[in-house]
Amino acid sequence: MVGSCTAQPAGSDHPGWSRSAYAALSYKRHQRSTREGREEDSPCLQHPQPGTTWLSEIMDMIYHDGDVEKCRRDAIYNRVPFLELKAPGEMSGIEQLESTPSPRLVKTHLPVQLLPTSFWEKDCKIIYMARNPKDVAISYYYFHRMAKIHQDPGTKAEFLENFMAGKVPYGSWYDHVRGWWEKKQQKKILYLFYEDMKKDPRQEVQKILQFLGKELAEGIVDRILHHTSFQEMKKNPAANYETMLPILMDHSISPFLRKGVSGDWKNHFTVAQNERFDQHYQKLMAGSDLHFQMEV
Ligand code: A3P
Repeated sequence: MVGSCTAQPAGSDHPGWSRSAYAALSYKRHQRSTREGREEDSPCLQHPQPGTTWLSEIMDMIYHDGDVEKCRRDAIYNRVPFLELKAPGEMSGIEQLESTPSPRLVKTHLPVQLLPTSFWEKDCKIIYMARNPKDVAISYYYFHRMAKIHQDPGTKAEFLENFMAGKVPYGSWYDHVRGWWEKKQQKKILYLFYEDMKKDPRQEVQKILQFLGKELAEGIVDRILHHTSFQEMKKNPAANYETMLPILMDHSISPFLRKGVSGDWKNHFTVAQNERFDQHYQKLMAGSDLHFQMEV
């Protein structure tokens, strides 16, 4: 087991974890010693639901110089393997990564303390994407309903309580975003926000290019922006997860690419829930210089 991986991830007693997801996590623990980051790797990290798939598609487009056809070669979950995932009967993320040539793109939702040390040792380029917690909670609720790896989330009110208490897969959103934010003081991490990406995707893609030390012609950047827009990704079978077996994801309950906007929480939170959420947020984020745009 890798030294830094002693903290416990969300376990089987967390209401959001189904048995198979937990089995996947246990499997992951056994695999830690073999799971290695490579120098050329670019992991994209985040707590679930902040636009991981969006960032993954952007990264794949960047690494293929905006070649749309190459980026349709396979589903996004195969082009950017999910480090800690092991779906029953499928290749694990680790197995997929082992057979992927460098430079590899890696997706993970791991909290900072659980990232295998090799990713730091090999100086992998790390991009973290965060999103305001109210939209994350709503997006995560709908994801729980449609993604069968998760248990039923209960009512929206119950799910919100569990989210605030950190009783959801990957644990506390507050610890997650703060942990990675604090790590940014010591390590080279590009920390992005979904709200900025929505507001000015060109500017954010330029930030990514600068971070990766890559230059792309303006026309290629235009193509990347078009191909990774919500409307394009929603109808792209290589990006919208509709190729997943219906027993794993049921898009008739809620599409994976659901709304793709900032501020959808306003259509879901009651006034009382919003006040309670704000108080809780203030308490858990106190003392941090990390701020989220809720009013967008
Ligand atoms: P919503 O449920 O609010 O629509 P992740 O990929 O981390 O699981 O995040 C999923 C969320 O990102 C969903 O949010 C999804 O619609 C949104 N998303 C995915 N691609 C997007 C894009 N190109 N533009 C805007 N939002 C996108």
